[in-house]
Amino acid sequence: MNLLGSLFTSSIGRKFLMAFTGLVLFGFVTGHLIGNLQIFLPPEKINHYGHFLESLGSALWLIRAFLLVCTVVHVWAAISLTLENRAARPDRYGVDKTNRATLASRVMAQTGIVVLAFIIYHLLHFTIRAQHPEWSQHTYQLHDGTMVRDVFKMVVQGFSSVPVSVFYIIAVGLLSYHLSHGISSMFQTFGLKNESWSRGLDGFAKAYSWAYFLLNALIPIAVLSGYVHL
Ligand code: HEM
Repeated sequence: MNLLGSLFTSSIGRKFLMAFTGLVLFGFVTGHLIGNLQIFLPPEKINHYGHFLESLGSALWLIRAFLLVCTVVHVWAAISLTLENRAARPDRYGVDKTNRATLASRVMAQTGIVVLAFIIYHLLHFTIRAQHPEWSQHTYQLHDGTMVRDVFKMVVQGFSSVPVSVFYIIAVGLLSYHLSHGISSMFQTFGLKNESWSRGLDGFAKAYSWAYFLLNALIPIAVLSGYVHL
């Protein structure tokens, strides 16, 4: 069988695909967070950034398509490996092995499903603006006179709702928990987790996940508390 075929059929190939697509999605969420933190700067910054992304045109659509493919492959590889593991290891001996695995690793499927539901909600909320079509009409004039979409105003109005903000905070909390195990697992698949590095890499995964959660949660909290306002 050729290399590409075995990437999809062998379990090591699918583990690699899961780690690789996980790495791409990890890169996206990190970049997206850095972009979003511009909400703490004057509105010009995040609106200029939004305009820059929109100006990428077809390149932006290529990136979106690549991210979508990575998400589908990540979910497919996770489901197929889980089903295969279950079929290969029926709990015949009645031994509870769960206490050896961390809670984060045992609830990867559950946290993954909530993150997926969150992404669908988030796209409807801020990208498609299904509930608030008027957000597409908010415009902002940059210092150079260019009229662009007012992303700053949209985010502030979006997080002014308490239930929406609470849902975002819970969702990024679960995403961070998913990442805390996912990052360690990715290092393992890429063969980077030898004995001397293992503790350091697990420490990095934990520290990253906490920082990711706190910085993301800070955005709706800053809006709700009135620190970031129109
Ligand atoms: C407080 C946290 C977040 C804020 C303020 C935020 C804000 C935004 C904004 C303003 C957009 C662009 C909407 C537009 O087209 O104008 C967007 C798009 C998007 N966000 Fe977020 N986001 C947050 C968290 C997340 C998280 C945690 C994820 C991933 C799990 C995520 C995934 C996406 C995706 C996939 C898009 C669509 C990108 C595209 O196709 O252009 N976001 N977000």
